[in-house]
Amino acid sequence: MDIVTNVEDLRKLSRKKLPKSLFDYMDGGSYNEKTLTENSSDFGELYFKQRVMVNVSQKNLGRSLMGRDYALPFGIAPTGLAGLYYPDGEIVALKAAADWNIPYTLSTVSICSMEQLAESNPYPYWFQLYIMKDRGFTEMLVQRAQAAKCSALVLTVDLPTSGQRHKDLKNGLSVPLRMTAANVLNTLGKPGWLFQMSRTRNRSFGNLKEILSQPNGNMTGLAEWCASQYDDSIDWRDVEWIRRLWKGKLIIKGVLTPEDARKAIDSGCDAIVVSNHGGRQLDGVRSTISSLNRIARAVDKQVEVILDGGIRSGQDVIKSLAMGADFCLVGRPYLYGLACGGRAGLDKLFTILKNEMETSMTLMGLKDVNDIDMQCLDNPLRFAENP
Ligand SMILES: Cc1cc2nc3c(=O)[nH]c(=O)nc-3n(C[C@H](O)[C@H](O)[C@H](O)COP(=O)(O)O)c2cc1C
Repeated sequence: MDIVTNVEDLRKLSRKKLPKSLFDYMDGGSYNEKTLTENSSDFGELYFKQRVMVNVSQKNLGRSLMGRDYALPFGIAPTGLAGLYYPDGEIVALKAAADWNIPYTLSTVSICSMEQLAESNPYPYWFQLYIMKDRGFTEMLVQRAQAAKCSALVLTVDLPTSGQRHKDLKNGLSVPLRMTAANVLNTLGKPGWLFQMSRTRNRSFGNLKEILSQPNGNMTGLAEWCASQYDDSIDWRDVEWIRRLWKGKLIIKGVLTPEDARKAIDSGCDAIVVSNHGGRQLDGVRSTISSLNRIARAVDKQVEVILDGGIRSGQDVIKSLAMGADFCLVGRPYLYGLACGGRAGLDKLFTILKNEMETSMTLMGLKDVNDIDMQCLDNPLRFAENP
C-alpha cells in the first residue's frame, strides 16, 4: 500500500488482487464506454485559477448536507456486491465512513443486509432503493430501511432496464454471480482473495434473503427473480408513492437534465444526485460534470445537488463544487480501496482525496470549501452558459 499515491494506483492494485470477472464488473461501463470515459476525462477540460500570497493556514473542508455536518464534501455511492470485494465489505466501509464522518450509502443489492449494518454500527447510513416490479417487496424494503433507522433513502431512477456491459457477458458474469469454467480458473489464480472470502459467511444478497427462503429459492431462482424485477413502466407517480411511504430525507439519484430535476423537486425530494450510473446505463449520454451546471441553475437551491461519476481525485471534487454541486459521491474509487485492503484501503483513499483537496486549495488561495464557486475556475463556461 506504501507505493499507492493516487486513485489510479488503487485501481491497478485492485486489478492484481481480484478475479478478472469481479474487476471487470466494477471497472467497466455499458456498450462502448464513451460515457464512462468522458465522466472522468471531462474533468480535465476544466482549469483552475492559481492565486498566490493568500494566508490559507487555517483550512476547512467540512460541509453540511441536508442539515447534517460532514467532515469532507464527499461520501460513498451505492455499489452492488461490495461485500464480494472484501469480506463483509459494507460493514467495514460503514465503520470507515463513521470514523471519517462522511455519508455511506448501502445498495439494494449489497452482500451484507441493512439489519447487519445497523447492528454493526450506530452511525446512520443511507439506503439506496430500486423500484422493483414486485411493489410489495419494494414497500417491505422501505419499511426495513425505516426500522434500520437509515437517515436517507436514495431512490435510483435510471434503471428501468439494464445497460449492457460487454465484458460482464463475455466473462459470464451476471447479477447474481454465475461462475463459468473460465471464472473458476481465474478465481483459483487469486488465492489471497479466496482465502479472505472464506472468512465470512456473507456471500449472497443480504437484502434479498426473503426471496432465497422461498420454495425454489436457490441462487438460480434468485437470478431469475432479479432479472424479472426491472420495470420500464415506472414513472413519477411511483416516486410520489415512495415519497408517501418514506418518512425521512429522500434523495433522487440518476437525474441528468434540468427537466427531470424540476420533476424530482415537484415529487418532494430533499436532494438529487446528478448521475448517469457511472456510465453503466445509457452510453452516449453526457458526462455528469458537463451536465451539472445547467441542472444546478434549474434547481436554483430549492433542493441540494449531489454529483457522482468520474471523480478520481480531490481536484475533481473541487471542480464539482465549483460547477454547482453541494456534495459529491465516489463509486469505483471506494471499491478499488476496499478491494486493495479493506479498512486500510479506504483510509488510503480518503487520505488521498483529502490531501489532494487541501494542497489544491492552498495553491488556489482557498481557505474554505464553502467558498468554492465558478470564480475558482479559469474556464467554467466550458460546461456552463453565460450567467
Ligand atoms: C460496481 C458498481 C455497482 C453499482 N451498483 C449500484 C447500485 O446497486 N445502485 C445504484 O444506485 N448505483 C450503483 N452504481 C452506480 C454508483 O452508485 C455511482 O452512480 C457510480 O459508480 C459513480 O461513478 P464512479 O464509479 O465513476 O464514481 C454502481 C456502480 C458500480 C461501479
